[in-house]
Amino acid sequence: MIKVALLGHGVVGTGVVEVIKNKAEQLFEQTGEHIEVKSILVRHDYDVDYKEKFVYSFDEIVNDEEISIVVEAIGGTDPAYNYVKSSLLAGKSVVTSNKELVAKHGFELMNIAEEKNINFIFEAAVGGAIPVIHGVRNCLKANNVHSIAGILNGTTNYILTKMIDEKQSFDIALKAAQELGYAEADPSADVDGIDTCRKICILADIIYGNHILPENVHTEGIRNVRIEDVDILKMVGGAIKLLGVAKAVDDDKMFIMTAPHVVFNQGILYAANDVFNAAQLETDNAGLMAFYGRGAGSLPTASAVVNDIVECVCADGTLYPAWGQEKPELVADYKEVPMQFYVNVAENAEKVEEIFPTAEIIYIKETTAFITEKITENQLTEKLTGFTVNSVLRVL
Ligand code: HSE
Repeated sequence: MIKVALLGHGVVGTGVVEVIKNKAEQLFEQTGEHIEVKSILVRHDYDVDYKEKFVYSFDEIVNDEEISIVVEAIGGTDPAYNYVKSSLLAGKSVVTSNKELVAKHGFELMNIAEEKNINFIFEAAVGGAIPVIHGVRNCLKANNVHSIAGILNGTTNYILTKMIDEKQSFDIALKAAQELGYAEADPSADVDGIDTCRKICILADIIYGNHILPENVHTEGIRNVRIEDVDILKMVGGAIKLLGVAKAVDDDKMFIMTAPHVVFNQGILYAANDVFNAAQLETDNAGLMAFYGRGAGSLPTASAVVNDIVECVCADGTLYPAWGQEKPELVADYKEVPMQFYVNVAENAEKVEEIFPTAEIIYIKETTAFITEKITENQLTEKLTGFTVNSVLRVL
């Protein structure tokens, strides 16, 4: 019998209890062990039919020698970081869906797990149900990954989809996402790109081998996305998506960023709507590949958490070595990496053609919208001196 403790009993925690209960037989067949949720750390008492599992002090879990796996589903870093670290130091493997914790403290916590020959794993922290972490960790060993671009936040993808397809206001769409259990407790983490940034950092840590701290990554959210640009882009087969992007650039540097991007109507990043997440990778041997699925919600997230529990049960020691320590100098200056931009200005097409002779003009009316050739952001800013700029978006 494997005894598991849950820290937290919110959207993710309740889903984990349900999946372990509903899949008991299947999990036994896969592991040869009965998996039981023994204790659930909660702050208050309330009615559920397994209330006898509730405990109110973390000490009851960390000191319980029967518990070999701790699932952290509290979110945030305080008190999650101390609880997870103490659990690992006590020799208990930890499974978490907490992207903030992994993005900030993953290097240290993975090292503790390695020293103890146990596991600290976190598939559900990126892409909810989608096995993107397993994919990049386990299945691309014969490849170099040139780039990864992902829709990694269900809430913002849901909001953008509702704004684009149903002309819903930002506030109404956000409220619906909160009611569906997709949004963070503080939705600023979703709409300001912070959550996506944490997730692209975790993927970049795995792919490129060194810890990247979110505070070193340029991050923009979706608050300034204008419906005028959504409509213009729709006419030419484009959509605005909040992407986390990472790619290797010259001299061992990495370009990494979170920002709304224009994507055109080929491929998974254009097609992924609502709460769905998607990640697209360019690799040398495997070529282009994609992951797609539900990026948030109780059962999809629990699906990934419970799979990680199964991995811990079946593991003979640490499954995945820690990535390397943080090196801020690995992150390239994003303003110096060439890319295409969508620009909307108040000036007429003649003026645009004069300054941007190679640009593709896609809209001429009360404003002019165009797509530049590949240039750096510093070059773009210089060329736009004297223009009245309504918006600038990066094009994937
Ligand atoms: N708030 C997150 C999202 C939850 O919307 O994607 C899953 O990480």
